[in-house]
Amino acid sequence: MSTPEERRAAEAANRAKERRREGLYAESEPFWKEEFPLTSAGEEYVQRREFTRYLLGASAAFAVGAVGAAAWANLQSANEGEPQAITADDRIAPSSEYLFNYPTDKDPALLIRLPDGELRAFSQKCTHLGCVVYYQPEHERIFCPCHHGVFEPSTGDATGGPPERPLQKIDIEVRDGMIWAKGVQI
Ligand code: FES
Repeated sequence: MSTPEERRAAEAANRAKERRREGLYAESEPFWKEEFPLTSAGEEYVQRREFTRYLLGASAAFAVGAVGAAAWANLQSANEGEPQAITADDRIAPSSEYLFNYPTDKDPALLIRLPDGELRAFSQKCTHLGCVVYYQPEHERIFCPCHHGVFEPSTGDATGGPPERPLQKIDIEVRDGMIWAKGVQI
C-alpha cells in the first residue's frame, strides 16, 4: 500500500513521461519542474536583463519617433495653407486694402498695397485678443479698435497698445496678373 505522497510522485512521473513522449516537455527537464515550477536566481537575472534591454530598445524607438515627429511638425508649421488666388493685381490701388479669407473660409485676412506699391498680407486677427484689424493708410498703420492696438503695415509688427506679437504674415505672389496667397507663416 503506497502513501498519498508516493502516489502523487508516481502520477507526476507518469505525466512527465507522457509529455516527453508527446514532445511537449524537454528530455533534459526533470519531471519535478512540472510540479514545482520555480525559477532559479540566475533565470530571474536573465529575465530582468532581457526586460531591461527591451525597455531600452522601446525608449530609443520612442525617442527617435519623437524627434521625427518634431521635425515633421517644424516643416509643417513653417508654411501652412494651400495656394489660393486672392484678386486681380490691378484691383487694389496704392494705400488701400482688400479683405479675403485665408487659409480657410473662417480666417479673415487683409491684403494691403502700401503707398509705394508693395503688397503685404496678414491675418486680420489681432494678436492681443483676436479682434479684427483694419488698414488705416491715412495714419500709416494697421489698427485694432478693441483696445487701440497698432501694427506697422509693412512688417505687421506690434507698435502700440496692448498687442506684443506681430500679425500673422501670409506669403503672397503676383502671377499672370493675379495675386496669390501661398501660405501662412507661423
Ligand atoms: S484685441 Fe486688439 S488690441 Fe485688444
